[in-house]
Amino acid sequence: MIGRPARPLLAALLGSAVAILAPAAQEGPAGSPAIADAVEASAVITPIPSSLGADPDRVDIGRMLFSDTRLSRRGDRACITCHDIRTNGASAVPRNVTTDGTPVPRNTPTVFNAALNFRLGWAGDIPTLKDQAELALTQPEFLGGSWPRILDTVRADPALAARFRSAYGREADREAVVDAINSFERHLLTPDSRFDRWLRGDARAITEAEQRGFALFRGIGCSACHQGVNVGGNLFEKVGIFVTIPNKTAEVLRVPSLRNVAVTAPYFDDGGIATLPEAVRLMARVQLGRELTTTQIASIVAFLGTLTGSYEGHPVTVPPATPPGPPPTDDHRP
Ligand code: HEC
Ligand code: HEC
Repeated sequence: MIGRPARPLLAALLGSAVAILAPAAQEGPAGSPAIADAVEASAVITPIPSSLGADPDRVDIGRMLFSDTRLSRRGDRACITCHDIRTNGASAVPRNVTTDGTPVPRNTPTVFNAALNFRLGWAGDIPTLKDQAELALTQPEFLGGSWPRILDTVRADPALAARFRSAYGREADREAVVDAINSFERHLLTPDSRFDRWLRGDARAITEAEQRGFALFRGIGCSACHQGVNVGGNLFEKVGIFVTIPNKTAEVLRVPSLRNVAVTAPYFDDGGIATLPEAVRLMARVQLGRELTTTQIASIVAFLGTLTGSYEGHPVTVPPATPPGPPPTDDHRP
Protein backbone atom coordinates (compact mmCIF):
# COMPACT_ATOMS: atom_id res chain seq x y z
CA MET A 1 0.00 0.00 0.00
CA ILE A 2 1.36 3.36 -0.88
CA GLY A 3 0.25 6.66 0.51
CA ARG A 4 -2.69 8.48 -0.94
CA PRO A 5 -0.87 11.74 -0.07
CA ALA A 6 0.46 11.51 -3.63
CA ARG A 7 -2.74 13.18 -4.83
CA PRO A 8 -2.47 16.67 -3.35
CA LEU A 9 1.22 16.54 -4.19
CA LEU A 10 0.35 15.71 -7.75
CA ALA A 11 -1.96 18.67 -8.01
CA ALA A 12 0.77 20.93 -6.65
CA LEU A 13 3.26 19.53 -9.12
CA LEU A 14 1.03 19.93 -12.09
CA GLY A 15 0.53 23.48 -10.97
CA SER A 16 4.26 24.06 -11.01
CA ALA A 17 4.59 22.28 -14.35
CA VAL A 18 2.16 24.77 -15.82
CA ALA A 19 3.93 27.63 -14.08
CA ILE A 20 7.28 26.86 -15.68
CA LEU A 21 5.69 26.45 -19.08
CA ALA A 22 5.24 30.14 -19.57
CA PRO A 23 8.81 31.42 -19.02
CA ALA A 24 10.23 28.54 -21.04
CA ALA A 25 8.06 29.39 -23.99
CA GLN A 26 9.81 32.76 -24.20
CA GLU A 27 13.25 31.31 -23.65
CA GLY A 28 15.62 33.36 -25.79
CA PRO A 29 18.34 32.05 -28.08
CA ALA A 30 21.25 30.46 -26.26
CA GLY A 31 23.02 33.78 -26.06
CA SER A 32 23.14 34.09 -22.27
CA PRO A 33 26.38 33.23 -20.51
CA ALA A 34 26.64 29.46 -20.08
CA ILE A 35 27.74 29.75 -16.46
CA ALA A 36 24.60 31.62 -15.51
CA ASP A 37 22.53 28.89 -17.18
CA ALA A 38 24.34 26.20 -15.20
CA VAL A 39 23.86 28.06 -11.93
CA GLU A 40 20.18 28.39 -12.65
CA ALA A 41 19.95 24.71 -13.64
CA SER A 42 21.31 23.73 -10.21
CA ALA A 43 17.94 24.72 -8.80
CA VAL A 44 16.47 21.75 -10.68
CA ILE A 45 19.24 19.12 -10.75
CA THR A 46 22.29 18.86 -8.49
CA PRO A 47 25.46 16.83 -9.25
CA ILE A 48 25.97 13.28 -7.96
CA PRO A 49 28.47 13.45 -5.07
CA SER A 50 31.67 11.48 -5.55
CA SER A 51 31.26 9.81 -2.15
CA LEU A 52 28.69 9.31 0.58
CA GLY A 53 31.40 8.55 3.09
CA ALA A 54 30.91 4.78 3.22
CA ASP A 55 33.54 2.93 5.31
CA PRO A 56 36.03 1.42 2.80
CA ASP A 57 36.47 -1.88 4.71
CA ARG A 58 32.72 -2.38 4.90
CA VAL A 59 32.37 -1.43 1.23
CA ASP A 60 34.88 -4.17 0.36
CA ILE A 61 32.91 -6.79 2.26
CA GLY A 62 29.70 -5.64 0.58
CA ARG A 63 31.41 -5.86 -2.79
CA MET A 64 32.30 -9.50 -2.10
CA LEU A 65 28.79 -10.36 -0.90
CA PHE A 66 27.23 -8.67 -3.93
CA SER A 67 28.59 -11.38 -6.24
CA ASP A 68 28.61 -14.30 -3.78
CA THR A 69 26.27 -16.98 -5.14
CA ARG A 70 26.54 -19.00 -1.92
CA LEU A 71 24.10 -16.61 -0.26
CA SER A 72 21.29 -17.71 -2.63
CA ARG A 73 18.92 -20.59 -2.11
CA ARG A 74 20.35 -22.78 -4.86
CA GLY A 75 23.84 -21.32 -4.94
CA ASP A 76 23.28 -20.27 -8.54
CA ARG A 77 22.76 -16.48 -8.35
CA ALA A 78 23.86 -13.31 -6.65
CA CYS A 79 22.87 -9.66 -6.68
CA ILE A 80 25.14 -9.18 -9.70
CA THR A 81 23.13 -11.73 -11.70
CA CYS A 82 20.41 -9.10 -12.14
CA HIS A 83 22.29 -5.92 -11.20
CA ASP A 84 25.29 -6.04 -13.52
CA ILE A 85 27.55 -3.44 -11.95
CA ARG A 86 30.20 -4.09 -14.62
CA THR A 87 27.85 -2.33 -17.05
CA ASN A 88 24.71 -0.43 -15.97
CA GLY A 89 23.80 -1.91 -12.58
CA ALA A 90 20.75 -3.59 -14.11
CA SER A 91 20.00 -6.05 -16.93
CA ALA A 92 19.17 -5.76 -20.63
CA VAL A 93 16.09 -8.00 -20.34
CA PRO A 94 12.61 -6.61 -19.58
CA ARG A 95 12.39 -8.89 -16.57
CA ASN A 96 14.85 -11.19 -14.87
CA VAL A 97 13.75 -14.55 -13.51
CA THR A 98 12.98 -15.58 -9.93
CA THR A 99 14.66 -18.50 -8.19
CA ASP A 100 11.82 -20.63 -9.64
CA GLY A 101 12.53 -19.58 -13.19
CA THR A 102 9.42 -17.40 -13.63
CA PRO A 103 9.74 -13.70 -14.59
CA VAL A 104 9.99 -11.28 -11.63
CA PRO A 105 6.98 -8.95 -11.48
CA ARG A 106 8.95 -5.84 -12.43
CA ASN A 107 11.93 -4.69 -14.49
CA THR A 108 15.25 -4.61 -12.61
CA PRO A 109 16.16 -0.99 -11.77
CA THR A 110 19.82 -0.02 -11.66
CA VAL A 111 21.54 -0.18 -8.29
CA PHE A 112 23.71 2.77 -9.30
CA ASN A 113 22.77 5.84 -7.21
CA ALA A 114 19.91 3.89 -5.58
CA ALA A 115 21.26 5.12 -2.22
CA LEU A 116 20.18 8.62 -3.28
CA ASN A 117 16.53 7.66 -3.82
CA PHE A 118 14.14 8.61 -1.01
CA ARG A 119 12.52 5.17 -1.03
CA LEU A 120 13.22 1.96 -2.90
CA GLY A 121 11.44 -0.13 -5.50
CA TRP A 122 9.29 1.00 -8.44
CA ALA A 123 6.33 1.54 -6.16
CA GLY A 124 8.54 3.16 -3.52
CA ASP A 125 7.05 0.73 -1.02
CA ILE A 126 10.41 -0.25 0.49
CA PRO A 127 11.33 2.41 3.06
CA THR A 128 15.09 1.95 3.41
CA LEU A 129 18.15 0.34 1.84
CA LYS A 130 18.30 -1.89 4.89
CA ASP A 131 14.79 -3.24 4.29
CA GLN A 132 15.62 -3.65 0.62
CA ALA A 133 18.74 -5.75 1.30
CA GLU A 134 16.79 -8.00 3.69
CA LEU A 135 14.19 -8.61 0.96
CA ALA A 136 16.76 -9.15 -1.79
CA LEU A 137 18.64 -11.72 0.28
CA THR A 138 15.65 -13.75 1.39
CA GLN A 139 12.67 -13.35 -0.97
CA PRO A 140 12.30 -16.11 -3.60
CA GLU A 141 12.07 -13.49 -6.39
CA PHE A 142 15.64 -12.48 -5.71
CA LEU A 143 18.16 -14.71 -3.89
CA GLY A 144 15.72 -16.73 -1.80
CA GLY A 145 18.38 -17.29 0.85
CA SER A 146 17.78 -18.01 4.53
CA TRP A 147 19.48 -16.21 7.41
CA PRO A 148 20.84 -19.27 9.21
CA ARG A 149 22.49 -20.45 5.99
CA ILE A 150 23.75 -17.02 5.02
CA LEU A 151 25.41 -16.56 8.41
CA ASP A 152 26.85 -20.11 8.40
CA THR A 153 28.35 -19.47 4.96
CA VAL A 154 29.89 -16.15 5.91
CA ARG A 155 31.25 -17.35 9.24
CA ALA A 156 32.72 -20.52 7.71
CA ASP A 157 34.61 -18.55 5.05
CA PRO A 158 37.93 -17.62 6.69
CA ALA A 159 38.55 -14.56 4.47
CA LEU A 160 35.07 -13.14 5.00
CA ALA A 161 34.93 -14.00 8.70
CA ALA A 162 38.20 -12.19 9.35
CA ARG A 163 37.07 -9.10 7.42
CA PHE A 164 33.83 -8.93 9.38
CA ARG A 165 35.74 -9.17 12.66
CA SER A 166 38.06 -6.37 11.70
CA ALA A 167 35.41 -4.07 10.14
CA TYR A 168 32.71 -4.62 12.77
CA GLY A 169 34.66 -5.76 15.82
CA ARG A 170 32.46 -8.85 16.10
CA GLU A 171 31.48 -12.00 14.29
CA ALA A 172 29.29 -11.57 11.21
CA ASP A 173 25.64 -11.25 12.18
CA ARG A 174 22.51 -10.29 10.30
CA GLU A 175 22.93 -6.58 10.96
CA ALA A 176 26.56 -6.56 9.83
CA VAL A 177 25.78 -8.48 6.63
CA VAL A 178 23.02 -6.02 5.73
CA ASP A 179 25.22 -3.07 6.68
CA ALA A 180 28.08 -4.32 4.50
CA ILE A 181 25.76 -4.62 1.50
CA ASN A 182 24.35 -1.16 2.24
CA SER A 183 27.85 0.30 2.55
CA PHE A 184 28.66 -1.08 -0.87
CA GLU A 185 25.41 0.36 -2.22
CA ARG A 186 26.36 3.79 -0.88
CA HIS A 187 29.55 3.40 -2.87
CA LEU A 188 27.66 2.55 -6.10
CA LEU A 189 27.58 6.15 -7.31
CA THR A 190 28.10 7.40 -10.85
CA PRO A 191 29.43 10.96 -10.58
CA ASP A 192 31.09 12.96 -13.33
CA SER A 193 28.43 12.81 -16.04
CA ARG A 194 28.81 15.51 -18.68
CA PHE A 195 25.70 17.20 -17.30
CA ASP A 196 27.20 17.32 -13.80
CA ARG A 197 30.43 18.71 -15.17
CA TRP A 198 28.39 21.42 -16.87
CA LEU A 199 26.53 22.13 -13.62
CA ARG A 200 29.91 22.49 -11.92
CA GLY A 201 30.98 25.16 -14.39
CA ASP A 202 32.56 23.37 -17.35
CA ALA A 203 30.70 25.31 -20.03
CA ARG A 204 31.88 22.98 -22.80
CA ALA A 205 30.86 19.70 -21.15
CA ILE A 206 27.54 19.65 -23.02
CA THR A 207 26.66 20.93 -26.47
CA GLU A 208 24.21 23.69 -27.24
CA ALA A 209 21.82 21.11 -28.69
CA GLU A 210 21.93 19.18 -25.41
CA GLN A 211 21.34 22.40 -23.50
CA ARG A 212 18.29 23.07 -25.64
CA GLY A 213 17.08 19.55 -24.82
CA PHE A 214 17.40 20.35 -21.13
CA ALA A 215 15.51 23.63 -21.62
CA LEU A 216 12.70 21.72 -23.32
CA PHE A 217 12.71 19.08 -20.55
CA ARG A 218 12.21 21.88 -18.05
CA GLY A 219 9.96 23.98 -20.18
CA ILE A 220 7.30 21.34 -20.80
CA GLY A 221 7.36 20.15 -17.18
CA CYS A 222 9.31 16.85 -17.14
CA SER A 223 11.39 18.31 -14.32
CA ALA A 224 8.30 18.87 -12.17
CA CYS A 225 8.64 15.14 -11.48
CA HIS A 226 12.18 14.24 -12.56
CA GLN A 227 14.41 16.56 -10.54
CA GLY A 228 16.90 16.69 -7.68
CA VAL A 229 20.21 14.87 -7.47
CA ASN A 230 18.84 11.72 -9.13
CA VAL A 231 16.63 13.51 -11.67
CA GLY A 232 13.81 11.56 -10.00
CA GLY A 233 13.67 9.21 -7.05
CA ASN A 234 12.19 11.75 -4.63
CA LEU A 235 8.43 11.79 -5.30
CA PHE A 236 5.41 9.57 -5.75
CA GLU A 237 3.35 10.24 -8.85
CA LYS A 238 0.49 8.73 -10.75
CA VAL A 239 1.48 7.21 -14.09
CA GLY A 240 -1.11 8.00 -16.71
CA ILE A 241 -2.36 11.43 -15.70
CA PHE A 242 -3.86 12.40 -19.04
CA VAL A 243 -4.11 8.95 -20.65
CA THR A 244 -2.67 5.62 -19.58
CA ILE A 245 0.36 3.94 -21.09
CA PRO A 246 -0.93 1.31 -23.57
CA ASN A 247 -1.63 -2.02 -21.84
CA LYS A 248 -1.15 -0.53 -18.39
CA THR A 249 -3.51 0.72 -15.74
CA ALA A 250 -2.86 4.05 -14.05
CA GLU A 251 -1.05 3.54 -10.75
CA VAL A 252 1.01 5.56 -8.32
CA LEU A 253 4.74 4.84 -8.49
CA ARG A 254 7.92 6.43 -7.28
CA VAL A 255 9.18 8.73 -10.04
CA PRO A 256 12.27 6.84 -11.25
CA SER A 257 15.72 8.39 -11.50
CA LEU A 258 16.82 9.36 -15.01
CA ARG A 259 20.53 9.11 -14.13
CA ASN A 260 22.19 6.80 -16.71
CA VAL A 261 18.82 6.35 -18.41
CA ALA A 262 20.36 6.29 -21.90
CA VAL A 263 22.02 2.97 -21.02
CA THR A 264 19.30 1.33 -18.93
CA ALA A 265 16.80 0.13 -21.55
CA PRO A 266 14.24 -1.37 -21.49
CA TYR A 267 12.02 1.19 -19.75
CA PHE A 268 9.15 1.49 -17.27
CA ASP A 269 8.35 -0.76 -14.36
CA ASP A 270 7.36 -3.64 -16.64
CA GLY A 271 10.32 -3.17 -18.98
CA GLY A 272 7.71 -2.91 -21.74
CA ILE A 273 9.29 -0.10 -23.77
CA ALA A 274 12.48 -0.90 -25.66
CA THR A 275 13.82 2.52 -26.63
CA LEU A 276 14.40 5.87 -24.99
CA PRO A 277 12.71 7.97 -27.71
CA GLU A 278 9.56 5.88 -27.30
CA ALA A 279 9.68 6.25 -23.50
CA VAL A 280 10.03 10.04 -23.86
CA ARG A 281 7.18 10.22 -26.39
CA LEU A 282 4.89 8.25 -24.06
CA MET A 283 5.86 10.27 -20.98
CA ALA A 284 4.96 13.54 -22.71
CA ARG A 285 1.64 12.10 -23.81
CA VAL A 286 0.56 10.35 -20.61
CA GLN A 287 2.03 12.67 -17.97
CA LEU A 288 1.81 16.04 -19.68
CA GLY A 289 -0.90 15.63 -22.31
CA ARG A 290 1.51 16.69 -25.06
CA GLU A 291 2.41 15.22 -28.42
CA LEU A 292 6.08 15.91 -29.08
CA THR A 293 7.56 16.13 -32.58
CA THR A 294 10.36 13.76 -33.58
CA THR A 295 12.77 16.70 -33.33
CA GLN A 296 11.63 17.56 -29.80
CA ILE A 297 11.96 13.92 -28.74
CA ALA A 298 15.48 13.74 -30.20
CA SER A 299 16.37 16.94 -28.37
CA ILE A 300 15.26 15.58 -24.97
CA VAL A 301 16.97 12.25 -25.69
CA ALA A 302 20.18 14.17 -26.44
CA PHE A 303 19.93 15.88 -23.05
CA LEU A 304 19.22 12.58 -21.28
CA GLY A 305 22.41 11.18 -22.84
CA THR A 306 24.42 13.72 -20.84
CA LEU A 307 23.24 12.11 -17.58
CA THR A 308 25.44 9.02 -18.03
CA GLY A 309 28.08 8.99 -15.31
CA SER A 310 31.06 6.84 -14.34
CA TYR A 311 31.43 4.14 -11.72
CA GLU A 312 34.96 3.84 -10.33
CA GLY A 313 36.20 5.87 -13.28
CA HIS A 314 34.52 3.75 -15.98
CA PRO A 315 31.54 5.10 -17.89
CA VAL A 316 28.29 3.23 -17.25
CA THR A 317 27.48 1.16 -20.36
CA VAL A 318 24.76 -0.95 -21.95
CA PRO A 319 24.85 -4.56 -20.67
CA PRO A 320 25.08 -7.61 -22.94
CA ALA A 321 21.75 -8.77 -24.41
CA THR A 322 21.66 -11.87 -22.22
CA PRO A 323 22.34 -11.60 -18.50
CA PRO A 324 25.82 -12.73 -17.49
CA GLY A 325 25.75 -16.43 -16.68
CA PRO A 326 26.26 -17.47 -13.08
CA PRO A 327 29.73 -18.70 -12.20
CA PRO A 328 30.00 -22.46 -12.79
CA THR A 329 28.69 -24.61 -9.95
CA ASP A 330 28.14 -28.34 -9.75
CA ASP A 331 24.65 -28.30 -8.30
CA HIS A 332 22.64 -27.03 -11.28
CA ARG A 333 19.11 -28.20 -11.63
CA PRO A 334 18.45 -30.47 -14.62
C1 HEC B 1 16.22 -11.82 -9.88
C2 HEC B 1 16.87 -10.52 -10.09
C3 HEC B 1 17.36 -9.75 -8.88
C4 HEC B 1 18.29 -10.15 -7.93
C5 HEC B 1 19.02 -11.47 -7.84
C6 HEC B 1 18.46 -9.00 -7.06
N1 HEC B 1 17.67 -7.97 -7.45
FE1 HEC B 1 17.62 -6.11 -6.69
N2 HEC B 1 15.98 -5.69 -7.76
C7 HEC B 1 15.41 -6.51 -8.70
C8 HEC B 1 14.10 -5.99 -9.08
C9 HEC B 1 13.16 -6.62 -10.09
C10 HEC B 1 13.91 -4.82 -8.32
C11 HEC B 1 12.67 -3.93 -8.32
C12 HEC B 1 11.71 -4.51 -7.29
C13 HEC B 1 10.40 -3.76 -7.23
O1 HEC B 1 10.37 -2.58 -7.50
O2 HEC B 1 9.38 -4.36 -6.88
C14 HEC B 1 15.13 -4.65 -7.52
C15 HEC B 1 15.37 -3.55 -6.70
C16 HEC B 1 16.57 -3.34 -6.04
C17 HEC B 1 16.95 -2.10 -5.39
C18 HEC B 1 16.15 -0.82 -5.36
C19 HEC B 1 16.60 0.11 -6.46
C20 HEC B 1 15.75 1.34 -6.50
O3 HEC B 1 16.24 2.40 -6.88
O4 HEC B 1 14.57 1.27 -6.15
C21 HEC B 1 18.17 -2.32 -4.80
C22 HEC B 1 18.99 -1.32 -4.01
C23 HEC B 1 18.52 -3.70 -5.06
N3 HEC B 1 17.55 -4.28 -5.84
C24 HEC B 1 19.64 -4.34 -4.57
C25 HEC B 1 19.83 -5.72 -4.64
C26 HEC B 1 20.79 -6.47 -3.85
C27 HEC B 1 21.73 -5.87 -2.81
C28 HEC B 1 20.68 -7.78 -4.23
C29 HEC B 1 21.40 -8.97 -3.65
C30 HEC B 1 21.32 -9.17 -2.21
C31 HEC B 1 19.66 -7.84 -5.27
N4 HEC B 1 19.15 -6.58 -5.47
C32 HEC B 1 19.30 -8.98 -5.96
C33 HEC B 1 15.99 -7.66 -9.22
C34 HEC B 1 16.96 -8.40 -8.55
C1 HEC C 1 3.76 13.65 -13.26
C2 HEC C 1 5.10 13.14 -13.08
C3 HEC C 1 5.95 12.87 -14.31
C4 HEC C 1 6.18 13.72 -15.37
C5 HEC C 1 5.63 15.09 -15.61
C6 HEC C 1 7.11 13.02 -16.23
N1 HEC C 1 7.44 11.79 -15.71
FE1 HEC C 1 8.71 10.45 -16.52
N2 HEC C 1 8.14 9.09 -15.15
C7 HEC C 1 7.25 9.31 -14.11
C8 HEC C 1 6.92 8.06 -13.48
C9 HEC C 1 6.03 7.86 -12.27
C10 HEC C 1 7.61 7.05 -14.21
C11 HEC C 1 7.54 5.54 -14.02
C12 HEC C 1 6.58 4.98 -15.08
C13 HEC C 1 6.46 3.47 -15.08
O1 HEC C 1 7.41 2.80 -14.76
O2 HEC C 1 5.40 2.97 -15.44
C14 HEC C 1 8.38 7.75 -15.22
C15 HEC C 1 9.26 7.12 -16.12
C16 HEC C 1 10.06 7.78 -17.03
C17 HEC C 1 11.07 7.16 -17.85
C18 HEC C 1 11.48 5.71 -17.80
C19 HEC C 1 12.55 5.52 -16.76
C20 HEC C 1 12.99 4.09 -16.59
O3 HEC C 1 14.07 3.87 -16.03
O4 HEC C 1 12.29 3.17 -17.00
C21 HEC C 1 11.60 8.14 -18.64
C22 HEC C 1 12.70 7.99 -19.67
C23 HEC C 1 10.92 9.36 -18.31
N3 HEC C 1 10.00 9.11 -17.32
C24 HEC C 1 11.15 10.58 -18.92
C25 HEC C 1 10.28 11.67 -18.80
C26 HEC C 1 10.28 12.81 -19.68
C27 HEC C 1 11.27 13.05 -20.81
C28 HEC C 1 9.27 13.63 -19.28
C29 HEC C 1 8.77 14.89 -19.94
C30 HEC C 1 8.34 14.69 -21.33
C31 HEC C 1 8.64 12.99 -18.13
N4 HEC C 1 9.27 11.80 -17.90
C32 HEC C 1 7.60 13.53 -17.43
C33 HEC C 1 6.75 10.55 -13.73
C34 HEC C 1 6.73 11.65 -14.55
